[in-house]
Amino acid sequence: MTNSLKLGFTSFDRLRGVLVVFCSEGLKFGPATQKVLLPIGDLHRRAAAADRFTGKKASALDIIAPTGLNVPRLVIVGTGKERELKERDLVRLGGVAMGKIPIAAPQATIFAEFAGGALKGEQVAHLALGGRLRAYTFDRYKTKRKEDEERAKKMEVNFACAGSAAAEKAWARTMGVADGVVLARDLTNEPANVLYPGEFARRASALRRLGLIVEVLDVAAMKKLGMGALLGVGQGSAHEPKLVVMRWNGGKRGADPIAFIGKGVCFDTGGISIKPAQGMEDMKGDMAGAACVVGLMQALAARKAKVNVVGAIGLVENMPDGKAQRPGDIVTTMSGQTVEVINTDAEGRLVLADVLHYINKRFKPKFMIDLATLTGAIMVALGQEYAGVFSNDDKLAERLSKAGEATDERVWRMPLGPEYDKIIDSKIADMKNTGGRFAGSITAAQFLQRFVSKTPWVHLDIAGTALGSPQTDINKSWSSGWGVRLLDRLVEDYYER
Ligand code: BES
Ligand code: MN
Ligand code: ZN
Repeated sequence: MTNSLKLGFTSFDRLRGVLVVFCSEGLKFGPATQKVLLPIGDLHRRAAAADRFTGKKASALDIIAPTGLNVPRLVIVGTGKERELKERDLVRLGGVAMGKIPIAAPQATIFAEFAGGALKGEQVAHLALGGRLRAYTFDRYKTKRKEDEERAKKMEVNFACAGSAAAEKAWARTMGVADGVVLARDLTNEPANVLYPGEFARRASALRRLGLIVEVLDVAAMKKLGMGALLGVGQGSAHEPKLVVMRWNGGKRGADPIAFIGKGVCFDTGGISIKPAQGMEDMKGDMAGAACVVGLMQALAARKAKVNVVGAIGLVENMPDGKAQRPGDIVTTMSGQTVEVINTDAEGRLVLADVLHYINKRFKPKFMIDLATLTGAIMVALGQEYAGVFSNDDKLAERLSKAGEATDERVWRMPLGPEYDKIIDSKIADMKNTGGRFAGSITAAQFLQRFVSKTPWVHLDIAGTALGSPQTDINKSWSSGWGVRLLDRLVEDYYER
């Protein structure tokens, strides 16, 4: 049942299928658009008046079988006031345009021109990115459909532009990012009976085809390293934990890498501290941080990023079982620090503690950024609009915030400090894995900070942004693939030589 979308670039004189054009506030069109609309006279202006369409940003007008034009449907998408348009607006408008193409249409042409004239190659690529992400569906498990859900078997969408060579060149780069987001969404949407640690490791290993070096550490290897915290979380599951280390060496030989670390809890039942049934199915997505890291590594490799990067994901399943870890158990982490497990549902930090320490020790990275669906509390604080940022490095946090504004994957800085840190001190071990009801996201971050030493570090709590995402113009799926675009941008703007 999977449908395929073919994106291409063409010139303004090749019209095929549904036609989508843009206009700014007050129904102003660019020259190529005016030319193509000439044969319909004032039809679109009358339709606009009838529908009170004025060209407001992201609004749209549908004209079916327009007399004079040999297309099944003409869609006009408003851009609003054009002087204000930023990259994130282009991406969004690409999503709106794609969303107006009926799912059963086999062909469409999107005019990459605004009232101010034809878009530059890079801008066309931004439109196409929005289009690609909007068209994403996770439908591999649907074996039948209702009549009105029937899709075209193959859909071909062409962006008409002034210079298709420039657009194609820009897209070749942006497409890698789009593919990375799609991969992250796919992995996160995949159910836990299919995507358990071993299978996740296999899918990450498939990135070797892009030139990545991928190592998979099994339980024996992790035991040898002393990863008692990660292994404790996984010990109640029939699926063995895995630790995957991916490397992309596109930078100077021997230069210190940058590192991304993902929480990969393939399913989080809570363990012995079991979660309530209501909504527990969403915990198949408790590996969204790991999915983002894999999507990012794919994006960086696909565009041959000029930087040395390590991506590491700790893969476990948190289950209740006769062999499962108990509340009150004390585990010894690879760092040597001991943890009293107060609540087995605070498992993500236990997994990350060992992976952060291992990556820091082995690679001495310039910085580490971890991504984790770590706490429900971050949703209480920030909702689903911003991810929480916790950092020991102001410059890194600031750069991340700028990359967030550019890509519209926004982040909000949260505090850290000794007053919060002491909340997780334990009477009988070095620390506890929970700090109680207050400041839940912060005490979780304090826990992680105990495993990063002085290395510049950012923790992104993505529990609100990665899963059950609000429907937007560029995502209709449960999983957003959040973070791939953000981190790709951070790397591109600040760390490629
Ligand atoms: N994976 C959850 C956090 C989560 C909740 C992610 C909802 C996405 C949506 C995490 O492992 C967890 O269970 N956290 C607990 C921590 C508590 C036991 C200290 C929480 O947030 O309730
Ligand atoms: Mn949990
Ligand atoms: Zn979890």
